[in-house]
Amino acid sequence: MRETEADRNGAMPTRRELLRGGAASVLAGAVPGSGSAQAAAQPIPFGSAAEIGAFREDARYREALKRYCDVIVPMNDLKWQALRHDRPRFDFSGADEIVAFAAANGKALRGHTLLWGEALPPWAKEIASRAEAERELVNHIEIVVDRYKGRIATWDVVNEVIKFEPEPGAPYRDTIWQRLLGPEHIEIAFRTAARVDPKARLVLNDFLFEEAAPAGAARRKVALDTFRRLKDKGIPVHGLGIQAHLYGEKELDLDGLQHFLRDLDALGLDVEITELDVIDWKLPADPARRDKLAADRVSGFLGAVVAAKQPKAIVTWGLTDRYSWVQDVFPRGDGARARPLPLDADYRQKPMMAVLERTRRGTAARK
Ligand code: XIL
Repeated sequence: MRETEADRNGAMPTRRELLRGGAASVLAGAVPGSGSAQAAAQPIPFGSAAEIGAFREDARYREALKRYCDVIVPMNDLKWQALRHDRPRFDFSGADEIVAFAAANGKALRGHTLLWGEALPPWAKEIASRAEAERELVNHIEIVVDRYKGRIATWDVVNEVIKFEPEPGAPYRDTIWQRLLGPEHIEIAFRTAARVDPKARLVLNDFLFEEAAPAGAARRKVALDTFRRLKDKGIPVHGLGIQAHLYGEKELDLDGLQHFLRDLDALGLDVEITELDVIDWKLPADPARRDKLAADRVSGFLGAVVAAKQPKAIVTWGLTDRYSWVQDVFPRGDGARARPLPLDADYRQKPMMAVLERTRRGTAARK
């Protein structure tokens, strides 16, 4: 049976979810059948990744997830490192907690991620042969996807498989999966996920598609080639996850990005913004100026995206500057705290939040 659009529309919250979620404040007036005359299109679902430590310890963090999100992504708890630290036994404790929270609060879920060359447990280095790699990968995907079948509607099936600077004949990253299985690792992952949960939306998630340097165009080409190959082989794949960790100091190739989005559309693929934040390590120190520049960067990026193709969801990689990987991985030279996200460290809304709300409601100023 051909799957319907509704089947694949997992990230889209139901009306009940829209009404129940705290996101009602930003969604008010746009809910079909809610009595609002001008309730035309539904806003683009908004979400965030949830980091388990903050989730467990900080009630304000949980409140923010309830209030702002239609979609939640366990930030680290579905990675191999978390699930497979003990080779024979799966540890679903963190993922289960976040999944239960999402269910209790009417939030959709994205699963991140079934295959990645990073965040692997130490024992993964022992995987030595092609047969063993395939057996481990298939077994992992079967068990994880089956456990959350019907609850996790969208999966980042493969994460960051495209080489940082792809070369002709060498499009994919050097990972244990690529080394042992070759380019087929991508096909095995998608085929297995589709077999276990035929209704799930299956996404290839990667980054720097907006980059102005030549590598940006090369990465876009690898993504398109990969999708064409999967489609030619009849392997189900539904969309591209655009991470969008945007460098505050770098101009973006928005024309190239828009062409790319139209090419994806022509291939029948969806897009989602999956890990949005602004790397602000090179931006001026003054917090108000920094927040304005970060909001402008997000505005330019999302404006270009929605003008070319409506994303299925817009997801930020955390909600509050209180907790962000940017602080750890891209620390500022002056020691000031990173400000990559839509809420500040005290959960106050920053200009970025207004940009997100305008974009998802379709009320952003057109240039
Ligand atoms: C990051 C998390 O945010 C950190 O908490 C963790 O220590 C490392 O991973 N691209 C991805 C995400 O696909 O999984 C990464 O998340 C950020 C970059």
